[in-house]
Amino acid sequence: MTLLDERPVATAFLPVPGRPLPVVGAGRRAPLATGGTTAYADLDVAASAPCLQAVADAVAEALPWYASVHRGAGYASQVSTELLEQARAGVAGFLGCRPGDQVVFTRNTTDAFALLAHCLPAGTTVVSYASEHHANLLPWRGHAERGGRHVLLAVPASPQAALDALEGALRGLHGPVLVAVTGASNVTGEVWPVEQVVALARRYGARVAVDAAQLAPHRVVDLRALGADWVALSGHKLYAPYGAGVLAGRADWLDAAGPYLPGGGATTAVTTAGQAWAAGPARHEGGTPNVLGAVAIAVACAQLEAAGRAALERREHALLARLEAGLASVPGLRVHRLWGEAVERIGVATFTVEGWDPALLATALSAEHGVGVRHGRFCAHPLVDALLDCERPVDGCGDAASGTALRASIGVATTEADVDALVGGLRALTQAGPRAQYTRTSTGWAVASDARPSAAGTAARILRRQTHQ
Ligand SMILES: Cc1ncc(COP(=O)(O)O)c(C=O)c1O
Repeated sequence: MTLLDERPVATAFLPVPGRPLPVVGAGRRAPLATGGTTAYADLDVAASAPCLQAVADAVAEALPWYASVHRGAGYASQVSTELLEQARAGVAGFLGCRPGDQVVFTRNTTDAFALLAHCLPAGTTVVSYASEHHANLLPWRGHAERGGRHVLLAVPASPQAALDALEGALRGLHGPVLVAVTGASNVTGEVWPVEQVVALARRYGARVAVDAAQLAPHRVVDLRALGADWVALSGHKLYAPYGAGVLAGRADWLDAAGPYLPGGGATTAVTTAGQAWAAGPARHEGGTPNVLGAVAIAVACAQLEAAGRAALERREHALLARLEAGLASVPGLRVHRLWGEAVERIGVATFTVEGWDPALLATALSAEHGVGVRHGRFCAHPLVDALLDCERPVDGCGDAASGTALRASIGVATTEADVDALVGGLRALTQAGPRAQYTRTSTGWAVASDARPSAAGTAARILRRQTHQ
């Protein structure tokens, strides 16, 4: 019996070892400010990665069955409920969850850490490093403002210094302690010594939450093997940009806390006098869950596993070596790292070029070479300040060039040609200067005479088609 088209669409793009994974938008062309188009080189995947083709196909396949979850008797509701719960199980497998661990679907990593901060028992001390992304820094500051404690360790000069500082902090602490650490830096790409952090934390009875927003798309993150308590990630960085993220790990603090989003779904019974809260993931997933976001993440996890994590890693190492060699060939360019060459890195490189405002360079790379990179402080202001040796007042975040950098990042769909386009663009710009004229704007730089269709116009066209068809 065929209900709808039952071709196994999600397996139609089984990855070919050693080749980029198929993504939506691969092969798209970028318009140039100077006229014409060129192949678009997306080297900003650490911010948001393109959607895997298999993810988009699976979501399209799920859509006809999209309906309410958990409370619907209709067949589509039952399929949607199964999609959500099977996706949860798939993500649990991908992250090496142990029996009793929970997978809570959130909006993203920021939301996952806000949820964990909400669940901290009274009197918890959170220990983290100043080098963290703001998502793994500001929630703990909020926790301190609500009467908890936050110990912020300085940006460490080496992995060993990170461990020494942590041990120094843990030695004097009492009561519940959470160490919140990144798996890989979104600025330097350096992989943190998470296993040693966990071992150290265990010696002092502390728990560990790992920010895997950057690590999970590049390396295996296995809670059982790491021994960590929680892991957080974002679907949009894992080739699944449908608005969902994950907090996975130990259930006890989550079940003991009040619901993160009180409302429908988070309760088992409500009377005029009170309510009973649900246990398990539902407790913190109040409101209607993002089923398609969960499906997208689970399919992305399955695709990365099908591609072979080791094969993906080998390919990434080769591309990173090409990128780093190319960057080293650009006069005046400096790559910024905390810990030097020997430390393992994911495909991320942050750099500055002498005499260039990073914002202007990023604008010109896009306008003249079709290359997408990021510039700024990457939501890790204290780390970038430390890397660039820049002291700023708290209200100095919006100022222009000083204390900012560019970041190139590579992922499973990046090609050698993408890397070469960046390096070629940098060489051309630094040697011959820009071909177009640029003017300063309140937010950065703009091309004085731009032949490209405006981004606003392109967006408006997409939206109009959706609302008028
Ligand atoms: C290491 C790291 N942690 C957390 C986040 C926050 O992720 P999101 O913006 O998806 O919440 C990011 C995003 O750049 C990140 O790179």
